[in-house]
Amino acid sequence: MNKLTTLLTLSFLLVLTACQPKQETENAAEPPTKEWSIALHGGAGYVSPDMPEDRKQAYMESLEEALAIGSEILANGGSALDAIEKTVNYMEDNELYNAGKGAVFTSEGRNELDAAIMDGSTLNAGAITGVTTVKNPITLARRVMTDSKHVFFSADGAETFADETDVERVDPEYFYTERRYQSLQRAKAEEQESNLIETNEEKEWKYGTVGAVAKDVNGNLAAATSTGGMTNKKYGRVGDVPIIGSGTYANNLVAVSATGWGEKIMLNVSAHTLAAHMEFQEATLQQSMDYLVDEVLEPGDAGFIAVDKYGNFSMKTNTGSMFRAATDSEGNKEIGIW
Ligand code: GLY
Repeated sequence: MNKLTTLLTLSFLLVLTACQPKQETENAAEPPTKEWSIALHGGAGYVSPDMPEDRKQAYMESLEEALAIGSEILANGGSALDAIEKTVNYMEDNELYNAGKGAVFTSEGRNELDAAIMDGSTLNAGAITGVTTVKNPITLARRVMTDSKHVFFSADGAETFADETDVERVDPEYFYTERRYQSLQRAKAEEQESNLIETNEEKEWKYGTVGAVAKDVNGNLAAATSTGGMTNKKYGRVGDVPIIGSGTYANNLVAVSATGWGEKIMLNVSAHTLAAHMEFQEATLQQSMDYLVDEVLEPGDAGFIAVDKYGNFSMKTNTGSMFRAATDSEGNKEIGIW
């Protein structure tokens, strides 16, 4: 190569470089990314602000403990899937919440549990509905995702699948709690007398669910939701929770978990609507959350938690209250009920 050719080649390369969009400019448009973040809910509804102080204390302490479980896993480099599963396990074992041990009763006096989990990095998911002997339904849902060729098992089929795993089983009596049983009796009485007004406590149980969403240090997102459904639900009713895209959805842009009136959440394919709004409108997490809660759903329908790929979290309800908590690697933290 002679001198002239070398000079021409260098000039050409300089012009080419100058015409390239600047990397720093592109990055400057991206919001800063938190290493990890997690949000959880323990149900949306109409909890009275006059709730007894000791009860309020019990909820606040359990939200704090659930958050600590998930955030410790994430802070130690654990996966979003592990963090949300363990967080939800804790809430399933706590009878304050309508999931696992604290599940509400069906109209037939049974406890039939639903759960779903989704891995945003693979778009794989697992769901179960109508199980009666699985102590931690979210763990079985994860096994459906990882150990089966299917996505969704129901009732007897889900129990048969559970037989093939090592998930912990319990006698259906394990799910009996006097508080939930009395709630069923009141719901049945109300059915007879249509002029009876539901108490706030009934509404809280009616809308209860637990869920968690997280982003881990590898940039992977995941969502999990678990519930006993609605008090006095009829004949194999399935709610939004195990329907992928309705109560539970994750890709690696956003992870969403819903709580509230399952029928309304389902009819609006709510969790996926939030994700699609973010993607196709190029909206922020908060803009898409506002769109879903304020414009798509009606007042009193539902609440949602979500984290996005930048580690932002958002928690919003259009009911009077939502048990919720969130934190991230930057030390931002929020715990609340109203
Ligand atoms: N959102 C819980 C249910 O309706 O089953």
